[in-house]
Amino acid sequence: MVAGPERARPVTGLLDDALPPGWSVRHPDADDHARVHAVLDQWWAGFGGEAGSRERAALLPRLFFEHFTDTSYLIEHDDGHLVAFLIGFLSPARPDTAYVHFLGVDPAAQRAGLGRRLHARFGADAAARGARQVGCVTSPGNRDSIAFHTRLGFRVDPGDRTVAGTSVHSDHDGPGLHRVVFSRALDDRGPTHP
Ligand SMILES: CC(C)(COP(=O)(O)OP(=O)(O)OC[C@H]1O[C@@H](n2cnc3c(N)ncnc32)[C@H](O)[C@@H]1OP(=O)(O)O)[C@@H](O)C(=O)NCCC(=O)NCCS
Repeated sequence: MVAGPERARPVTGLLDDALPPGWSVRHPDADDHARVHAVLDQWWAGFGGEAGSRERAALLPRLFFEHFTDTSYLIEHDDGHLVAFLIGFLSPARPDTAYVHFLGVDPAAQRAGLGRRLHARFGADAAARGARQVGCVTSPGNRDSIAFHTRLGFRVDPGDRTVAGTSVHSDHDGPGLHRVVFSRALDDRGPTHP
């Protein structure tokens, strides 16, 4: 488990009726691919330097905006600017499992509950389709992401070593691509806000 002060709080509060005026949620489409790529480095605050930038871009090919749209979501403002996105899917091989592949929130809108609400919407829709748990991974150095997922009630799957108090799976995604592996049962009442 993650060391630190964060403790889990149930994930509740569905998305659509909880957004500030002028913001709306919808499923992405292929035209959103370039829009999302355009914000990655800024929203991740340049995490990982040039290698991190290349890795993020490689993790979001266009196919996610063509073949995984009905299980993905984005929030945008009436004026057209992107506020947040979640790219996820239901596992074809594990029907009880949903997976969040990528999640980002505009730094100007972070810590306002959007990440939690996107997880709530994704989890509710996935549960309605039969999923019983949600998985995701993050980089060991992304302490904000680790704190966020811990707060949402995700458990850290035990890995082979510990980095800054968090169990890590070495080379999980390839040589040098270490990951913290998270899972959350959908009946945990994970990410909803009142
Ligand atoms: C991580 C990220 C998605 C969180 O989204 P967010 O909208 O800011 O998070 P929320 O406001 O919904 O926060 C949900 C809970 O997590 C907590 N939390 C969020 N970020 C946190 C942080 N950096 N440190 C400690 N707690 C944090 C919040 O306090 C909140 O707790 P509460 O509502 O139960 O009191 C967002 O910061 C982000 O996009 N970061 C850059 C990209 C990234 O790292 N993505 C995740 C890896 S794919």
